[in-house]
Amino acid sequence: MAKYSLEPVEVKKINTKYRTIQTKLPVPESLAIFKALEESEPVSMMGQPPIIWDKAEDFSVYDKWGNKWLDWSSCVLVANAGHGIKEVKEALIAEIEQGLMGTYVFIHEKRAELTKALQALAPDPNNYTVFLLSTGSEATENCIKLARTYALEKHGSEKKYFLTFTGAFHGRTLGAQLAGGIPALKTWIQGEGDNFIQVPFPDGYRQTDISFDVLLDSLKEQNIKPEDIAGMMTESYQGAGPNFLPYEYAQKLEKFCKKYDIVSIYDEVQAGFGRSGKMFTYEHYDVTPDLIACGKGISSSLPLSAVIGRKDIMALYGPGSMTSTHSASPLPVAASLASLKVIQENNLVDNAAGLGEILFSELERIQMKYPDVLGVTMGKGLVMGIQCVISGTKEPDGELAQKINEKAFHKGLLMFAPVGLVGSCLKIAPPLCTTIEALLEGIQTFEEAVDEVLGRKTLE
Ligand SMILES: Cc1ncc(COP(=O)(O)O)c(C=O)c1O
Repeated sequence: MAKYSLEPVEVKKINTKYRTIQTKLPVPESLAIFKALEESEPVSMMGQPPIIWDKAEDFSVYDKWGNKWLDWSSCVLVANAGHGIKEVKEALIAEIEQGLMGTYVFIHEKRAELTKALQALAPDPNNYTVFLLSTGSEATENCIKLARTYALEKHGSEKKYFLTFTGAFHGRTLGAQLAGGIPALKTWIQGEGDNFIQVPFPDGYRQTDISFDVLLDSLKEQNIKPEDIAGMMTESYQGAGPNFLPYEYAQKLEKFCKKYDIVSIYDEVQAGFGRSGKMFTYEHYDVTPDLIACGKGISSSLPLSAVIGRKDIMALYGPGSMTSTHSASPLPVAASLASLKVIQENNLVDNAAGLGEILFSELERIQMKYPDVLGVTMGKGLVMGIQCVISGTKEPDGELAQKINEKAFHKGLLMFAPVGLVGSCLKIAPPLCTTIEALLEGIQTFEEAVDEVLGRKTLE
């Protein structure tokens, strides 16, 4: 876990169009808030750069002491349309003024508007329906349940395995973590996971053999017959790369799932709603998932998630038996409708694709200045990552990633704490409404941060 010092340090004052830093960091007056949390919260909630968010607009984040950061976090890939955008604010105010803040699963009108709007994004709208939930983990859990139920009802109890990938992250609840492929997150799980199996993810960097045979061989080694697999779930890209599936691999995976009637699930919780330059990232692979788990950028703000899925699978549970208390809660639904409209009407998916090309080539140029310690640049659209490594190896270097991240923070460029193996991936995810001018300022700031950290290291 990243550990940022709470000792205020003098940093260079900055005042540009997109960044203002005019205090020590962390702000001395903010320390009382950190102290209150230290006393009242589990430590697990800590670990991000020490800023106290006061306001966030479009691609800027403000504290209340006059500092302003250019945002490269999107609130961990949530604020796709932008932070606090006018349309979402107005939709929320209108909903509150109408007087509707909760309905359980009693129906309200906007629920139908949103399920229709999301259904229209499905691979074959007439053949898909939409189930609204609150968190990404709920969505992935629900996909596991649906796949297992489908297999049980259609094929019987032998078809029980759930296939996922090493390195996968699908959330922090039990089912989602059983399906996850990060051993360090699963140490608390004892014995419940026998039917959850993982195969190597073909990232092309650490797992260099990206052929589909690796999956087949791994199943053989684990003594699993393909016909006994109920469901396969993969993130459309794995977060801590971000690692995309090779096109050919995704194609073969699709054929494999079809051949053995395995429910294919794409986890789009962080990859959806334009992030990678397509509305959904699976579209890069020309595949047709049976179930799509959505979250985060679905609303650009309030907690909302969804499963968009094949009608026959989604119909397996009868009235009242697949619901959640806050399913389709009116405020998140209103926010989601407004956010989706902004993403579509302002062509933010294309903006992400276009800016992504510039961002990638610039980040790769910066990374290639230090190829011994900045291992590789990966990403598409407005989600990128640079892997920090121990010099000349592919061994992750979390310390270096944190130094660069913290330096950028001091310069008014906000990224969330590095992710992946020992926190070694510098992950970059600006809101999709970012302008070219703001992006270029961010790139320049990032480069300065990298140069200052690595320049100093070279002098040592
Ligand atoms: C790919 C993926 N799936 C699922 C989740 C879980 O979502 P939530 O934190 O909303 O439960 C996340 C969260 O980071 C994610 O990135």
